[in-house]
Amino acid sequence: MKLSVFCGVSVDGFLARPDHSLDFLETGEQEPHGFEEFYNSVDVVVIGRKTFDVVLTFGEWPYGKKQVVVLSSNPLNFSSIKNGVVEQMSGEPSEVVTQLKARNFKHAYTDGGITIQRFLSSGMIDRMIVTRVPILIGTGIPLFGPIPHDITLRHLATRTFKGGLVQSEYELSANQ
Ligand SMILES: NC(=O)c1ccc[n+]([C@@H]2O[C@H](COP(=O)([O-])OP(=O)(O)OC[C@H]3O[C@@H](n4cnc5c(N)ncnc54)[C@H](OP(=O)(O)O)[C@@H]3O)[C@@H](O)[C@H]2O)c1
Repeated sequence: MKLSVFCGVSVDGFLARPDHSLDFLETGEQEPHGFEEFYNSVDVVVIGRKTFDVVLTFGEWPYGKKQVVVLSSNPLNFSSIKNGVVEQMSGEPSEVVTQLKARNFKHAYTDGGITIQRFLSSGMIDRMIVTRVPILIGTGIPLFGPIPHDITLRHLATRTFKGGLVQSEYELSANQ
């Protein structure tokens, strides 16, 4: 099973402002940068509870009928989600991956800063696609944070878009 990250950040590395707003992601010209193709390639979305809380404020469930797993160590209420396929898991990233593998999922989209950091630290991420939006916001919720050891990345590609997006794709070796 493969686990990927696909996210947008400010050039100074933030996924969201401190109040969770995401307005800055729309800086520059918005143009397709591969999200749809990526999304079509995954069969399960694994998000952290804090990302889930933000998604609930969107009003509309953005994941369609794709299986979504929300990670939390506390009970969650999914009653407001009418047309989604959602469940909760918790535990070490390796345990979560074992459960997903047992259910035959092939490609997970892992999302949320703390969540990504935990999966990276456990050596569970295979591919990372980070799109930098041309803005500095100074403070916010970081994509990256402390890790227990260095993680070597293999650079696969960097794509630039005329509106100012810069997207880098990396492969990670297993069990780092
Ligand atoms: N720019 C982008 O592309 C992008 C993408 C994704 C998210 N975001 C933004 O990032 C912000 C959220 O990121 P975040 O770093 O604050 O948090 P997050 O990763 O979304 O959520 C963290 C929470 O997830 C739970 N969790 C994570 N791993 C777990 C595990 N293995 N087992 C059990 N629970 C686990 C814990 O919940 P409990 O505390 O409930 O136990 C933890 O506090 C939001 O504002 C969101 O909108 C932006």
